[in-house]
Amino acid sequence: MSSCKKKTASLEHLVTIPATMGATAASVCATPAAAPPDPADLPTNPQTMRTLIPGLALDLAHTPARRRDAVRLSAGTQHTDDAGLIGYAERSYVPRLPWRSPTDEEWRALTQPQEEQPGDEIKPPGDRISVFRVPESVLEPFAYLRELSYETGNLRRIQALIEDVAGRNALVEAARYARSLAYCGHTGLDAPIAHAKIPPGTPTMTTGRDGRLTGLHVDSWYRSELEGRASSPNRLSINLGVHDRYLLFVNLPLRSVAAHVARAHGETKLADSSFALPREFARLFPGYPVVKLRIAPGEAYIAPTENVIHDGYAERTGGIDLRFTCRGYFRAPDPWAGTSSTARMRSARCGAAGARMSSSAPVRPAISES
Ligand SMILES: [Fe+2]
Repeated sequence: MSSCKKKTASLEHLVTIPATMGATAASVCATPAAAPPDPADLPTNPQTMRTLIPGLALDLAHTPARRRDAVRLSAGTQHTDDAGLIGYAERSYVPRLPWRSPTDEEWRALTQPQEEQPGDEIKPPGDRISVFRVPESVLEPFAYLRELSYETGNLRRIQALIEDVAGRNALVEAARYARSLAYCGHTGLDAPIAHAKIPPGTPTMTTGRDGRLTGLHVDSWYRSELEGRASSPNRLSINLGVHDRYLLFVNLPLRSVAAHVARAHGETKLADSSFALPREFARLFPGYPVVKLRIAPGEAYIAPTENVIHDGYAERTGGIDLRFTCRGYFRAPDPWAGTSSTARMRSARCGAAGARMSSSAPVRPAISES
């Protein structure tokens, strides 16, 4: 029997969110995560781990015209020392060039549809990555910032405008949209922010608290153990700028990564060392491809960044990478939304899920960003 567990996604207000947007605490009623693969069944020979195997589902149904063209695969991963990169933390890994198109078999592994399960409304969000277009009504309040993002020299002006009244109002609209994507009953947002950055020209963009680049990593804002990673909050990221940006990721959920690492070490128990798993996986399986997923201006992704090895990337174009991001419990908008029958069905399902969640245990505080 499934247990119902609640968490709090504390709302870190960079803006004043109207009270009508809903509760500030998100509750989680998660079905148990799927059993990890039996380590004995896994292909642990690094030579066999050079093509994609099924893992997370990539959902590009909302952007059919850009489907396969939006995806490239790396030749594996590479230690930043071997790549001659500076500015990275020790034992960091980045995608190894060249990029290539996925084979037909890899494309199927990456995008194979998953059967909808009973109680899908409360299914953990950690099993898929979605890309979709954002309504113009959400993008329009950021238009004046987007125009400035053509020139790197405008960075400080953009940052000042983000903090100004118009920027904060635009942020409210983006936060309101984010909440419209939340699972029923999970309307809390963590760390909604509009962020401007000049692409550093490195293979990945995330920096740690010490200012050094982290390389491929797994987020740990919620400090979940391995068992809870699939049902941790996911991330919404909207490309507000004028240039493509990219989500880099290994298409395996963290439990699967742990299973492969355990098998390679000749162990049957999965070590819960979420921080060490990305670099250990890269060290053991240097030929396993990293997926490079293009997010065009006006597009967004939803990804389980607590459950997948990932980073961001933007080319050095002379412009500024501009995005909105926040964490919560999000799912892609229904591509058939607007039809009366779909709306009625979704409303009915939300009502049932909400009733289940309301009987859950008390919430516990989440670890907030520093
Ligand atoms: Fe991250």
